[in-house]
Amino acid sequence: MSTHINAPEGAIAKSILLPGDPLRAKFIAENFLEDAKCFNEVRGMYGFTGSYKGTPVSVMGTGMGQPSLSIYVTELFKDYGVENAIRIGTCGAVSKDIELRDTIIVSSACSDSYLLNQRFGGLHFAPTSDFKLVRTADSIAEKMGIRYCVGSVASSDFFYDINDNWKKWADYGVKGIEMESAELLTLAAQYHRKAMAIMTVSDHILKGGTTTAEERQTTFTNMMKLALETVVEISK
Ligand code: HPA
Repeated sequence: MSTHINAPEGAIAKSILLPGDPLRAKFIAENFLEDAKCFNEVRGMYGFTGSYKGTPVSVMGTGMGQPSLSIYVTELFKDYGVENAIRIGTCGAVSKDIELRDTIIVSSACSDSYLLNQRFGGLHFAPTSDFKLVRTADSIAEKMGIRYCVGSVASSDFFYDINDNWKKWADYGVKGIEMESAELLTLAAQYHRKAMAIMTVSDHILKGGTTTAEERQTTFTNMMKLALETVVEISK
């Protein structure tokens, strides 16, 4: 048991998928995992452990924003010994080459969050996905034949961006804006674990267009399969 996760020792697998939305965690457990058992309901932040193609895997919500993710992921790394953490979430695209529902395998994450400043002061740190996870996901995505790219995102503290920060990031080749990945990748560096993020484009900030809440919760199956197949591959 940890402060925010009500699971006994050993109830969480070495590899975990981390959607922001706890209902997406439930959806994955019900639709993709065998013998899934719920290990957490505290604050409605559902977590489940089951198996996918014989490989043990957990899935748990993180909530929205870096401070919320930071609480859960710190406890998963520190108290439950999680080794591989893959965020699966949605982002708003800021690149003209990207379409709604495309998949982005996140190689690195910029941020405007003060969380990084509190860790590093005037120094800068580059939150980066684990190369082996990215390489594995890249080759699986290619085999799946889905529309995807590998690139950077920016994790903003603003959903409703009052400063148009996204424009500057877009000028520097960032593919999408979301709100959690930079802290996940930074925590993985702190605890010497492996992490990566995979995004589905739910909105297009540059070109306009959005997906419904229902679509966000249930139809982003490419990303879910890609993350699960990556876990199977790296567990061999
Ligand atoms: N901004 C931040 N986070 C997001 C967005 C966005 O436009 N879309 C999905 N997550």
